[in-house]
Amino acid sequence: MEPYDPVAEDYAAVFGDIGVRLFEWPWIRGLVREKKPRSLLDLGCGNGYLSKALEGTVPERYALEPSPVMCSIAEKNLGGGVVLLRGAAESMPFGDGSFDMVISLLSFRYMAWDRALDEIYRVLKKDGVFILVDLFAGSFNPLYFPGYLAAWAAVRIHHMRNRGYYKKLRRLTRSAAWRRLVREHPRRSLSDARAMIKGKFYIERFRILGAGLRGSTAGLVCGKRAPF
Ligand SMILES: C[S@@+](CC[C@H](N)C(=O)[O-])C[C@H]1O[C@@H](n2cnc3c(N)ncnc32)[C@H](O)[C@@H]1O
Repeated sequence: MEPYDPVAEDYAAVFGDIGVRLFEWPWIRGLVREKKPRSLLDLGCGNGYLSKALEGTVPERYALEPSPVMCSIAEKNLGGGVVLLRGAAESMPFGDGSFDMVISLLSFRYMAWDRALDEIYRVLKKDGVFILVDLFAGSFNPLYFPGYLAAWAAVRIHHMRNRGYYKKLRRLTRSAAWRRLVREHPRRSLSDARAMIKGKFYIERFRILGAGLRGSTAGLVCGKRAPF
């Protein structure tokens, strides 16, 4: 059984619309508009809301997801415009140099980073980019205080306008299956991730998208480093 199988239905019910990713989605959308990839892989696509939201902007869209339960939800959500495959980042069913862009939205923390990064590098074209958005551990950094305040205010406003969403979110995060998942996949450190990424890619851009007391959501744009 894949780690997301037991929570897939509840997860998909909460995160049905990518608009709930208040900070992550506008950043990703801006990058896709700027870089104009012709081919894109949504890695660890979950219920497929990112691939769905990119409809009409990227000609060739692929999505990869290891959880069979998530895959069947994504299949229903996506229809025919996206090639959806079952599989994991550490061993991808794609040829070398297949994509202009690979996006991992909140799935990287579940991967074996060294093997996944090798594979992402392999499936990207020469000038391809890897966009990573994830939650990382870390103690509160005073430098991010303005970002923390902005994130807190935006979430409070969203909360007031979307009480139904927060009710569902609370139900998910309080469930035993979710707690077990989080316990078994704790957030990992941002500096470890950066160090590992730098071994293969150059970090073209880095952004703290949401700062919290126990860590942050970071966005990284990683370009392929030319092999020597
Ligand atoms: C928090 S969900 C994020 C899903 C979706 N990207 C989103 O933003 O809602 C994490 C996803 O990563 C997937 N995942 C877990 N291990 C993975 C791996 N080794 N390779 C690719 N995806 C993985 C899970 O099955 C799950 O669907």
